[in-house]
Amino acid sequence: MPNLFEPFTLAGLELTNRLVMAPLTRNRAGAGEAPTALAAEYYAQRASAGLIIAEGTQPSAAGQAYPHTPGLHTDEQTAGWAQVADAVHARGGKIVVQLMHAGRISHEAIIGTRPVAPSAITPAGQVYTEQGMKDFEEPRALETAELPGVVAEFVDAARRAMAAGLDGVELHAANGYLLQQFLATGANSRTDGYGGTPEYRARFVIEVATAVAAAIGADKVGIRISPAGTMNGISETEVAATYAALLDGLNPLGLLYLHILEGQDTVFHEKLRAQWTGAVIFNTGFTGPSDLGTAQAAVDDGTTDLFCIGRGFLANPDLVERLRSGADLNEVDTTTLYSGGAKGYTDYPLLSA
Ligand SMILES: Cc1cc2nc3c(=O)[nH]c(=O)nc-3n(C[C@H](O)[C@H](O)[C@H](O)COP(=O)(O)O)c2cc1C
Repeated sequence: MPNLFEPFTLAGLELTNRLVMAPLTRNRAGAGEAPTALAAEYYAQRASAGLIIAEGTQPSAAGQAYPHTPGLHTDEQTAGWAQVADAVHARGGKIVVQLMHAGRISHEAIIGTRPVAPSAITPAGQVYTEQGMKDFEEPRALETAELPGVVAEFVDAARRAMAAGLDGVELHAANGYLLQQFLATGANSRTDGYGGTPEYRARFVIEVATAVAAAIGADKVGIRISPAGTMNGISETEVAATYAALLDGLNPLGLLYLHILEGQDTVFHEKLRAQWTGAVIFNTGFTGPSDLGTAQAAVDDGTTDLFCIGRGFLANPDLVERLRSGADLNEVDTTTLYSGGAKGYTDYPLLSA
């Protein structure tokens, strides 16, 4: 039986264990939305994770979702990420960064311009801005001629991730952000070959993955999906056909991993895992316990190669050691998830403290 606490080889990356830290938006970027020395300390504290997937990071200014999320489209931001990569590597960890273009899950109050999306369909709900909660706005539908430019933003950010010394990137095609907006019938009513059928809805995501893989190497590129997820006002029909088309397009690329957020329909998710020819990372996506028992069972029964935990790593820098030894866990401070500087970020106690 595979053991969670034993090493795993993920393409060229030698992971010390099968536990992955989930991407977690923490809204603590510094000037110019660059990661700070505090971010380097936060991630270095968590370097005993087999793999860290760093927080959702905008590949362009227009792709920013929330205040003070980091970017990866300026030299200052690239330098900030280099600090993070160095700090994690110095502790023997591995780290990829999640490239997250918000699409319609943003607001003019955040990015200074109308958010873009596959179609001019307003999501239900509200977004946090520095002026308080605001209703989502009707996004501007991207023109067909603009799509290569968005692909190029992902490619540029991925190149910058490599220049910063990070171990790779994760394309965020989950949780209702831009890439899932293309996949989802509820957000995509395009008639230009990028919507209308499962294959056409999958096409933009496949084009982004193909271009990023060509630029930095397929073994440096993972992708996160949340089939049938409903986060951020997303809704999908023809789910099985759309994700089958997506995986058909992605499988030949030989990507680093497929990261699946579990939904209610676990049988469907098993089919996806069966179709995927590479390594799998699994996260419950808020559907159930994200604990040692769940992780070990999912690895034991072959559901996944690697198990991804979010809030457990957020509150426990030494989560791996705590799970291995059966120690108690720190509780998450929900008041400092998205603000608070060092408080609730780098001050969670270690077992040894
Ligand atoms: C504070 C916070 C921030 C998050 N930010 C992101 C993000 O940037 N990108 C993403 O894909 N998921 C994000 N998530 C979802 C987590 O990656 C994960 O799917 C979720 O926390 C469920 O796992 P858990 O039960 O182990 O925490 C976030 C979750 C939390 C609690």
